[in-house]
Amino acid sequence: MNDDRPSRFDTLAIHAGQHPDPTTGDAIPAIHVTSTYAQDGIGGLRGGYEYSRGGNPTRTALEEQLAAIEGGAHGVSFASGLAAEDALLRAVLAPGDHVLVPNDVYGGTHRLVRTIHGRAGVEHTTVDTSDLDSVRAAIRPGSKMLWVETPSNPLMKISDIPALAGLAREHGLLLVVDNTFASPALQRPLDLGADVVVHSTTKYLGGHSDVVGGAVVVANGGDELAEQVRYVQFAAGAVSSPFDAFLTTRGIKTLAVRMQRHSESAQTLAERLADHPAVARVLYPGLPDHPGHKVAAHQMSRFGGMISLDLAGGERAARTFAESTRVFLLAESLGGVESLVNYPSEMTHASVRGTEAEVPPSIVRLSVGLEDIADLTEDVDQALAHTLR
Ligand SMILES: Cc1ncc(COP(=O)(O)O)c(C=O)c1O
Repeated sequence: MNDDRPSRFDTLAIHAGQHPDPTTGDAIPAIHVTSTYAQDGIGGLRGGYEYSRGGNPTRTALEEQLAAIEGGAHGVSFASGLAAEDALLRAVLAPGDHVLVPNDVYGGTHRLVRTIHGRAGVEHTTVDTSDLDSVRAAIRPGSKMLWVETPSNPLMKISDIPALAGLAREHGLLLVVDNTFASPALQRPLDLGADVVVHSTTKYLGGHSDVVGGAVVVANGGDELAEQVRYVQFAAGAVSSPFDAFLTTRGIKTLAVRMQRHSESAQTLAERLADHPAVARVLYPGLPDHPGHKVAAHQMSRFGGMISLDLAGGERAARTFAESTRVFLLAESLGGVESLVNYPSEMTHASVRGTEAEVPPSIVRLSVGLEDIADLTEDVDQALAHTLR
């Protein structure tokens, strides 16, 4: 995007990285389905592209867009969210280094840190990142990275990004924020002091449940780190395909309007369920009695489309609810236009059963989609009624 073009979020999301084709004028950049590039003599690269694992124009367009919407200097795109996280961990941590991760982090992230990087000699401590004193107490010599997920998956805990950024600076830690749940349309961690943002772009950024992808976005001043992440992207090779990059770019263009509607519908549902006899607790940061509400109101422009319910009838009720919805599809993942219900302890978070990151069996997680809110409330009401029978 030209420097003199407007740079507000909704505009950037549509235009950043989208350069009309110089010969045809295509408003939408082509999907470059090539693995390799003709050279004008040995090493004579046109546009710097040599081989698609190292670079592809469709991926470049997405990476520019990712950096722009997060307010970062560098976007690096991957084949999945976990591939992005893995590349960042490899780029930063050496054997003997220590990373702090939330005690309710996404199960796959916990597994990645615990098993793959644990076997490579990286040490970790799980900690409640919504409690600053606990984080401070868990920092030790050798701590290099503080990982935060806010809102967290699936317990919807809120961590104070500016306060954690201060703590990270004080102790020389790299602050990484997984911004998958909020998306940059609602929360911009780099503006709040984080060093790096990671995403499962599979979720809200793609937005249509038709692509798996991930991203690392590095803040201004992080050129060396970005270089290291790019090196892992190239050398280990978990790149996004041109089709996947295109779909993600297309999703991002409507992110702002989607997040507005996701948030409005989730707020309506959460308020409605707060007093429901079948629900012990509604975990949604938009409710004034949520423990993280004030912090969320400070660092998020809206509260997002994810709600978790702790059901009064415990595990049996949670299972019944998850298997009784008609509009909410029982499926893993989140952030698409269609509403999904998930039973974390046996689905998305099965890999952390028996660990300190285990999710209580009474929890169900809702990804509130873009369907008519009346259909969504009726569906949740009838599924809750089943749990009371
Ligand atoms: C918060 C969060 N981070 C990371 C991931 C991993 O992303 P992916 O499934 O694209 O590898 C997920 C997946 O559910 C997630 O919910």
